[in-house]
Amino acid sequence: MQIKIEELKKSFADALALAGSAEALEALRVEYLGKKGHVAGLMSQLRFAEDKKVAGQLINGLKTYVEGEIERAGEELRAAAIAAKVRSAKKYNPTLRFPEEHGSYHPITLATREVEEVFISMGFTIENYDEIVDDYKCFEALNIPKHHPARDMQDTYYLDNGQLLKTHTSAAQNYIMKKYGAPLRAIFPGRCFRNESTDACHENTFFQLEGMMIDENISISNLIYFMKTMLSEVFHRDVKVRLRPGFFPFVEPGFELDISCEICGGEGCPSCKNSGWLELCPCGMIHPNVLREGGIDTEKYSGFAFGLGLTRLAMMKYGVKDIRDFNSGNLKALSQFESI
Ligand code: PHE
Repeated sequence: MQIKIEELKKSFADALALAGSAEALEALRVEYLGKKGHVAGLMSQLRFAEDKKVAGQLINGLKTYVEGEIERAGEELRAAAIAAKVRSAKKYNPTLRFPEEHGSYHPITLATREVEEVFISMGFTIENYDEIVDDYKCFEALNIPKHHPARDMQDTYYLDNGQLLKTHTSAAQNYIMKKYGAPLRAIFPGRCFRNESTDACHENTFFQLEGMMIDENISISNLIYFMKTMLSEVFHRDVKVRLRPGFFPFVEPGFELDISCEICGGEGCPSCKNSGWLELCPCGMIHPNVLREGGIDTEKYSGFAFGLGLTRLAMMKYGVKDIRDFNSGNLKALSQFESI
């Protein structure tokens, strides 16, 4: 039996050297360790052996040897498979560039920049201002005392601490007057918020661009000149406008500057509330109370202010029918604009 075991060991080692796959290893395991395998065969012959004890130990030795070798060979195969995978994988190339995806400018950004350029060329500075302001800045400094009915025009989001989200860019007027004093020419674009129910031409979040010019002898004709220049530069064509009286407590006199709806050509559509006109740029001569509150000498200086609806301007300029598209995050709509 001893000789037989030695022979089996040797033939196992030879077969193992040739077993190059998990399947071949499994077949070898079954051949030696399986129910009908060599080890089981030897066991069944054990009772005929002269020295059972020694023979039993030898068979067990064979069994342990085969088990250990199969285990080791299996490990080796698995490691080799991983190594082959790593070798065949594409190498990382640090100099390779990933395909670039370009974003596009938001139409409001494009419209803002265009208007800014027009006003810079006319000597205006550009100012930035907070989105969260206090009641004084948004209303009281603008000649709208508490409980004044004019507050109803701007339904406001108040914060728990009494501050509010600015409802119009006019909220920066007082700050800018105090910052520069007279004479001054400034524009200040910004995001505004109102508690509005939304439709094709109303949003709760929108952009305005406010402008102020304060100097000696500023009159309504200055205001009209600047508005006309701005519109013709931005639209690059003649647009039909109309000026009608409008009430805002911080200007006197006040106007609504409307433009003929560019979406329907003035016929009436949902984008212009079917009127054919769009309120684009309320404006007026700054009320003396507002100037005084800003520390300006009203004996010497006067000025005009306007609040250009930037979002509406972008709608008209680019033919966007629904104001809600601007905040939609819809890349299909937005990616049509000039890429970065
Ligand atoms: N702040 C006003 C609004 O948002 C617009 C406005 C600005 C009117 C400046 C007159 C002068 O409704």
